[in-house]
Amino acid sequence: MSQKNKATIAVRKGIDADKHHGAVVPPLHLSTTYSFADFDTKRQYDYGRSGNPNRDILAETLAELEGGAKGIITATGMAAVHLATQLLNSNDTLVIPHDCYGGSYRLFTSLEKRGLLKLVVLDLTKVENHQKILELKPKLIWIETPSNPILRLTDIKAITAIAKQCGALVGADNTFLSPALQNPIEFGVDIVVHSTTKYINGHSDVVGGAVIAANQTLGDELAWWANNIGITGAPFDSYLTLRGLRTLNVRLRQHQENAFVIAQYLESSPYVSQVYYPGLESHPQHELAKQQQRGFGGMVSFDIKGDVNDAAAFLTSLEEFSLAESLGGVESLICHPATMTHAGMDATARLEAGVGDTLIRISVGIEDVKDLVADLDRVFNKVKPGHGQSPVASKKVVPQEQQSEHTSSFKLTPAHTALW
Ligand SMILES: Cc1ncc(COP(=O)(O)O)c(C=O)c1O
Repeated sequence: MSQKNKATIAVRKGIDADKHHGAVVPPLHLSTTYSFADFDTKRQYDYGRSGNPNRDILAETLAELEGGAKGIITATGMAAVHLATQLLNSNDTLVIPHDCYGGSYRLFTSLEKRGLLKLVVLDLTKVENHQKILELKPKLIWIETPSNPILRLTDIKAITAIAKQCGALVGADNTFLSPALQNPIEFGVDIVVHSTTKYINGHSDVVGGAVIAANQTLGDELAWWANNIGITGAPFDSYLTLRGLRTLNVRLRQHQENAFVIAQYLESSPYVSQVYYPGLESHPQHELAKQQQRGFGGMVSFDIKGDVNDAAAFLTSLEEFSLAESLGGVESLICHPATMTHAGMDATARLEAGVGDTLIRISVGIEDVKDLVADLDRVFNKVKPGHGQSPVASKKVVPQEQQSEHTSSFKLTPAHTALW
C-alpha cells in the first residue's frame, strides 16, 4: 500500500499530471476513439469502452485508497456487483448474507433462477453459519458490512479465514463506509465493490460503481469482463466522481459526527423502539466495529413506534430530510426501506433480514446537526408515533411559535460530537 495518507491520496492523485498544457486538474477526455500512432501500433488508448484517461485516474485512486492492485470503474454500483459474479460458472456456489442491499439480493436470486450460479443465503453474523460455509465449498463469499439498512457487521477477518480454508474468494461491498473508514483488503478480502453513487461521489449527482481487486491477476480478469460485457463507466461521470472523491475524508468526518448525535438523540426518544448505529455502545457489534472500522459512518436506522401509518406521517412531515432512495450525499436523506430500497426483496426474506414496516433509514448529511435534531424533534412531537394519533401524512409545516413548546429534553453537548 502507498505510504501516503488517504486524505492526501484522495486529493492529489492525478493532480498536475497533464504533460501537454500543465492543467492542474486532470482534463476531461470525451473522445470515444483514439488515432493509431501507425499501422498496427496503437497508443495507450484505442476505444472508450476499453479504456479512458478519466476512468483510469479514478480507478487508480480508488485502488490506492483501498490498498488493492487494480480498480475497474463501472456505470453503476449494480454493474460492479454484477461484474463480480462473472467469476462464477453455473456449478459454482455463491454465499450471500441474508440482509444485503435489496438490489444485490434481487440480482443474485435472479441469476440463480436462470441457473447461472448456485446460491446459499446465510446470516453471516452467526458463527455457526461460518462452519456451514466450509461444507459448501463456495467459489465466492459475499459480505456487506455494515449492512444496508440494519447496519449489522460481518467479522471480515473471521470470514476470510474460513474462505482460505475452503479456497473461496471473498467479495465485500464497502459502500456504507467508503475507503475513508474501512479497507476490507487489509483483512484478506479479494474484491471490494462500491456504489460510487454514494459517499465516494458524495453529491447525489452521478450514478456509478467500482470494483477493486486485491491482486493483479484477478483485476485483469475482471477488467476483461467489464470491457467484454460493456459496463465501464462514462468519462464525465468519472471526472465528476473524482472531483467528489477529493473531499471524501472531510465529508465523512462531518457525516459521522452528525450521525452520532442523531443516533444518541433517537436513542433518547420515547417515540423510537430501537436504534441501529455501530457507534452506540448498545449496538451488539460495537466492539467489532472498533476493530475493523476507522469510524462508525453516517448511516443510522431505527424502528419508529407504532405502525406503517406512523412511519408515513413522520417521513412526510420532515423539512430537513428528503424522502428519497440513495445515501451518502451531503444532504440528509430519509427512507422507508420496506417500500423503497428493499422493495425488490420478497416479504418473507425482508422480514427475516429485519426490514419491517416501522424501519426508517437516515443518510445523515453534513448540515448543522442542530437543525437536523430540531426537525426530528418537531415532527416526533407533532406525529407522536405509537400513541395512536398519527395525523394523516401531510407536508403541513408547524409554525415556528408552536415548535418551541415541543422541544425534547435532549440537549447537545460537546461530548455528543467527540468521536475518534
Ligand atoms: C450497499 C449498496 N450496494 C450497491 C448498491 C447499488 O448501487 P447503484 O445504485 O449505484 O447501482 C447500493 C445502492 O443503493 C447499495 O446501497
